[in-house]
Order: sequence, then C-alpha cells, then structure tokens
Amino acid sequence: MAMIRHSCHFLRKQLSPIAASVANHHCWWSNVEMGPPDAILGVTEAFKRDSNPNKLNLGAGAYRDDNGKPYVLPSVIKAEEQIVGMKLDKEYLGITGLPAFTEKAADLAFLPDSDVRKESRNVTVQSISGTGSLRIGANFLAKFLDSKAIWLPTPSWGNHNPIFGHAGLQIKQYRYYDSKTCGFDASGAMEDLNKIPEKSVVLFHACAHNPTGVDPSFENWKEMSAICKSRNLLPYFDMAYQGFASGDTDRDAQAMRYFVSQGHNMLLSQSFAKNMGLYGERVGAFSIVCADKEEAKRVESQVKIIIRPMYSNPPLHGARIASTILSDPALNEQWLTEVKGMADRIISMRSQLRENLANEGSTRNWQHITDQIGMFCYTGLTPENVDRLASEFAVYLTRDGRISVAGVSCGNVGYLARSIHQVTK
Ligand SMILES: Cc1ncc(COP(=O)(O)O)c(C=O)c1O
Repeated sequence: MAMIRHSCHFLRKQLSPIAASVANHHCWWSNVEMGPPDAILGVTEAFKRDSNPNKLNLGAGAYRDDNGKPYVLPSVIKAEEQIVGMKLDKEYLGITGLPAFTEKAADLAFLPDSDVRKESRNVTVQSISGTGSLRIGANFLAKFLDSKAIWLPTPSWGNHNPIFGHAGLQIKQYRYYDSKTCGFDASGAMEDLNKIPEKSVVLFHACAHNPTGVDPSFENWKEMSAICKSRNLLPYFDMAYQGFASGDTDRDAQAMRYFVSQGHNMLLSQSFAKNMGLYGERVGAFSIVCADKEEAKRVESQVKIIIRPMYSNPPLHGARIASTILSDPALNEQWLTEVKGMADRIISMRSQLRENLANEGSTRNWQHITDQIGMFCYTGLTPENVDRLASEFAVYLTRDGRISVAGVSCGNVGYLARSIHQVTK
C-alpha cells in the first residue's frame, strides 16, 4: 500500500498538470484498505472451487428443496400471475410502502383482533426486507433513544452488530448460548438481563435464533418478559422466520405476542424472505408498538423522516405478492401449507441427520440437532473439525460450526453424517 502511495506521488511530480490531475483521480482511494471477505461468501467461494462430486455447501442461509434447488412457492407464482394479469402501473409507493401490505403484515404479526391493532397503536411501514427493517429501527433508536445502546444475544446474527453499529448505537451483549449443552443459557441470560440499565433496548430473535437454532422455552420467555418489565427495558423483536421455524405462524409469533399481551411497547422487524421465499424481492416490515394512537402518529411522522433520505420509498413488486397472498383466503391457506412443508422438511432432516450419526456409530450426544429449530443448527463442531470437513470431505460450513439444515437432503444426509462422524470420532 505504501509503495502504491509512493508511486502515485512520484507520477504526479513527473506529469503535465492535466495528466497529473488524471493520475490524482487514480490515487483517491489509495489509502482504502482491503476489507475482510464476508464469512459466508468465503464459504461459497471455496465450495465453488472444489471439484469433488459429493461437495456440499451448508453455509448459505436460503431454503433448498430435497433436490438441493431453490424453491419458488406455488402460492407466490399464483399471486404473481394475478398481479401481472391486472396490468397495474409502476408508480412510486408512498414513503411507508403499500398500505394493503403493511396492514396485512401487522395482522400476521399481532393478529387482526389484538388490542394493538384495534387501538391503532402500531406504526407499521414497509421495509427493504428484514435487514432494511432493522436499519430503520437502528436509525430511529440512534435518534430518539437516550442511552444509545442496544443489547444483543451472544452470539447473534452476524449483521446485527454492523447494522446497529453503523447507525451509531453502542453494542452490548447478554449471555444466550451455552456451548456445553449446545442449548439456551437460561441462568446466564436472566442474570445479564437483570443487570441491564433501565430504559435500554434488548434485541430478541422471535423464533429460530440465527446462528444457533436455540430458542428459549415459553417459560423462559415469560421470565424474560417479567425482567424487561421490572427493569423498564424496551424489547426489540427480530422476526425473520415467522412460520418457517415450526410450520405454524401463530406458534412462531407466540413469544412476541406474549410480550405485547404483557403491555410492553416494542419494536418489531419482519422479513418475508424465508417464509415466502421472496429473498431477492426484499419484502419486510418495521413496526413500533406505541402507548396510544396519538403517540403512534407522532412516531410514524419521524419514521418517515428517517426513511425518506435513505431510499425514498420501498419497492413495489414483492409487496404486491405478499399482500395478495395475505389477503386472498385461498392463497393464504395454500401459503400456510407451503410454509409448513418447508419447516417440516427441515425438521425431518434434523431427525435424519441425528439418526444417521447414530447409525454411523457416533457415541456423541447429538440431541441438540433435533432440539434446535429453524434453518440453522449449531452443531458444536470445532473450527478444526470444520476445516477437516472441507479439506477431506468437501463439506463446507462456517467455522463457528453452523450448518444450514436447508442444504441437507435425503440424497446427502448419509454422506454428511459419515463425514461428521469421521472428523469427530
Ligand atoms: C436473524 C435475522 N434477522 C434478519 C434477517 C434478514 O434477512 P433479509 O434482509 O434477507 O430479510 C436474517 C436473515 O438471514 C436473519 O437471520
């Protein structure tokens, strides 16, 4: 880097003023250092380079069918056909998005007959999927939260830290995962939550915690709700997998809804990437549950002020798909069956992986594979195990031992179990 800077300086000295100004342009970013590659993309790159016919990529977090192929939900195809048939215009949406979509997204999260919805206490705006929703929330908190700090579970989704950090919030952590049990560290979490200063924000994964797949029990959630009450903490639920975890949209929302029922005001980020397979369409919603309708109006005006300079208004097509599915009773029923189908396939792969490990003769306790839920499984494999899986078996995953169960199929689960057993026996 120093050499490049030196040669730029030398060039400028040698050239005519015009040529020097061109050279100057070439040197504008000479002090920009190469950033580290994204951990997941790195896994995919290594996978692509491997010529082993049995190779497996368990890094990427997108659903695959049992043939390892991306899955476009038939309900999504039907909704799209309806939308195209209507020959709608492509005008800009308002800052808060498609009202037909935001209304239904809020109903799906809170239920139409909930107090929050009946009292119009929620602000719900469309967002650029879950990530964009979190970013609106992060910017809102950075502007209006006095403490400017957010508590995340350890570990949390890799993007949480930069999303909240880039918005200017301080990131703090509470204990969550217990590597000894590959389960929830209930006592550690409760102890830490009890120490968080009043009027702070705590982030919870509503269901299917990423990266661990470990969710608190309902009893644990009740205790955490009580702590948030007594410590006057503001819960922020990240719900990226409603329906995708258990196959039931109500069950996956039950922790968040319980908090609402206990009178918590809260923030909520929803994504429709996984449960509708709308990854690249970027469909999501951001909500704030307020004290009353009047507060909600004021808060909404400020959320709009945050969104307007970021991206002006959200994209149309995906929101039309989601709102069609959520509004049309027949399509909605079909979608619920399809989400359950995806969840059930993942649940069945977890059982098969555990069974195959036992059949291979593995004496380790793999119960956490079936106790955990959702797309991801924190296997408990060490970085050294992960490296051996890649070099000896062409099985690729992140070095924290996380596998995307969506990448496991009837065709490869035997090979995967054999490979895991070889590196762990
Ligand atoms: C916990 C969590 N939050 C949010 C997201 C947001 O994803 P997207 O921006 O694709 O909706 C994800 C996706 O992996 C996630 O796992």
